[in-house]
Amino acid sequence: MPTSTRSTVPAEGAPGHVAEQLRDQAASCAAMGSALYAHLLRAAAADVEAGGPCWAVLAAHVLPGRGDALALRFMAATHRLVLTRRAAELALHYPSVGGTAADPDAARAAFLATVERHAEALRLLVALPCQTNEVGRAAGLVGGFLTVARDTGLPLRLLEVGASAGLNLRWDRFRYGGGGAAWGRPDSPVDLGGLWRVPPPTDPAAVEVVERSGCDRQPVDPATAEGRLALTASVWADQSARFARLKGALRLVTEVPATVDAAPLDDWTAAQLASPIPGAATVVYHSVVDEYLPDEVRARFRAALAAAGERATPDAPLAWLRLEPVDRLRSHGVVLSTWSGSAPALTRTLARCGAHGSDVEWLASDRLGGP
Ligand SMILES: C[S@@+](CC[C@H](N)C(=O)[O-])C[C@H]1O[C@@H](n2cnc3c(N)ncnc32)[C@H](O)[C@@H]1O
Repeated sequence: MPTSTRSTVPAEGAPGHVAEQLRDQAASCAAMGSALYAHLLRAAAADVEAGGPCWAVLAAHVLPGRGDALALRFMAATHRLVLTRRAAELALHYPSVGGTAADPDAARAAFLATVERHAEALRLLVALPCQTNEVGRAAGLVGGFLTVARDTGLPLRLLEVGASAGLNLRWDRFRYGGGGAAWGRPDSPVDLGGLWRVPPPTDPAAVEVVERSGCDRQPVDPATAEGRLALTASVWADQSARFARLKGALRLVTEVPATVDAAPLDDWTAAQLASPIPGAATVVYHSVVDEYLPDEVRARFRAALAAAGERATPDAPLAWLRLEPVDRLRSHGVVLSTWSGSAPALTRTLARCGAHGSDVEWLASDRLGGP
């Protein structure tokens, strides 16, 4: 929950509460480089407080249990109208379709007019789940994968939970760089150059992947038009670098097969880890998933990992890699736990980065026992 300096906290579901959610997301968008969404979300917050068209759309979605990522779902719903050519006047201000975000006042007016005109459609679209699959997060995770590959000398078995469309199951086909280092194929359609500020060690130069599987409670199929639309609508309309990454990752979808099962991550992880797979290092990983988990699901997931960790051997080691928030706006942590049967689990904080994988700062020493 956002920290409030107000003396009275608005009641759950009241316009004041929704306005606070929208302003909170506006602050995140501003901090993460989307001036357009920051501006539009602040305008939406004021409109909600005034009982305007934004409130008419959102009022039905603030019932208990349905407030999850409401501001992002609202912006994705509106973006979807633009992407499907139903909102020509707003499209003029959305760089994702060739518009320009140079006139914030005109963008605000077009946004509010679009919400009013399409209120009925938006009420339905806002009910769709938040479907961001952020490829940039691989820039934070990759150092963890390389650490496991280097430490074990084994091929990797990739198990991503909360994988969304599974785009980051292809992380080894992306190009990474920054801070004077680079890793990956120079000809990759996904260029994450510049996301590393303090780079991780970049050996080994190549990693063998023997399995790419994931699960999500509501997977997105990136091979379908609807899946691609959902993923594209979830990217903030003025963030061209993120669109380029998404487009590149979608090109890899058919080239590099991966499966994402529709399954809750606690049951799925327990089933996948039921018996060790010799000759490969199993890496269970996730990014920006933990905050969506009820306590009991999180506990079952961790218990499945701990039980599998006890069965791990040097020939069938287990790793748990995660990129999750550390503090609210900018900083996420990349943490790696490993089990190899010879010692208790070893947990290391490897790196810090932004929520979308920017400004990766490698923290860990590159070798166990190092400085
Ligand atoms: C914010 S998205 C992050 C998606 C992806 N990991 C990324 O970084 O782009 C969170 C994902 O977790 C999934 N999720 C939430 N709870 C889950 C659960 N209990 N089991 C499986 N997936 C879950 C959601 O459906 C959603 O796709």
